[in-house]
Amino acid sequence: MLSDQRHNKEKIQQMFAAISKRYDLLNRVLSFNQDKYWRRIAVSKLQVDGDSCWLDMCAGTGDVSIEIVKQEDFSGSVVAGDFCAEMLRYGIQKCKHLDINNIKFVNADAENLPFDKNTFDGAITAFGIRNIADRKKALLELTRTVRNNRRIVILEFSLPTNRIFKSVYHCYFKRILPLSGSILSKNDTAYSYLPASVQAFPGRQEFAALMKNVGMKNVEYFDLTFGIVTVYVGTTQK
Ligand SMILES: C[S@@+](CC[C@H](N)C(=O)[O-])C[C@H]1O[C@@H](n2cnc3c(N)ncnc32)[C@H](O)[C@@H]1O
Repeated sequence: MLSDQRHNKEKIQQMFAAISKRYDLLNRVLSFNQDKYWRRIAVSKLQVDGDSCWLDMCAGTGDVSIEIVKQEDFSGSVVAGDFCAEMLRYGIQKCKHLDINNIKFVNADAENLPFDKNTFDGAITAFGIRNIADRKKALLELTRTVRNNRRIVILEFSLPTNRIFKSVYHCYFKRILPLSGSILSKNDTAYSYLPASVQAFPGRQEFAALMKNVGMKNVEYFDLTFGIVTVYVGTTQK
């Protein structure tokens, strides 16, 4: 069981390493540029303020972290954690290019965060939780490292609920996206894994229940873009 999980983690790491070079481009193209909007809304729910310190877990190439440091009146810092060094490397390059120096990229496993309890003023994970084998452990780690009465935001893909949109989306997600994704990324598996992993992810209510189960209060969620993605918001209570 444990070695199965380790094996799966390595597979996820290798998959993201393989697509890291084209990851940002693929996000823009395959989401019709919606991904920026989704991150912007999710970050707005963090209620970032002043000189504070935030965790962006499963940060990848750092787009969420960059969105946080761009918030008005923000003078704090972000820790961008991910276990895929190649993804982080592109994030570091991007920040250099943008002259951003208050994001620290850290190689970290979401299931075992190398941070003390109550380190952060809030945490966010965008499109990452779906890839994590032990999601409860990851949510517990986010809760442990965030101070009391602060927000944790999870942005993740969902299955749309509208019947008409659902069938159009199903065709795009299951056929067009894997094909265009594999051509653009030159990787056969990553963009077939995406729809499969979204389908395997718990429904909205079930995931919200898991957030409550690890001790978060005021858990709520809302859909964006016809329910393609869902933003979950919870508050720590200790
Ligand atoms: C789909 S990408 C999302 C990246 C970024 N948050 C964004 O909005 O584009 C998922 C990221 O989660 C990371 N990841 C998956 N499982 C992880 C784990 N257990 N610990 C740390 N990072 C993980 C992957 O390496 C990958 O960079």
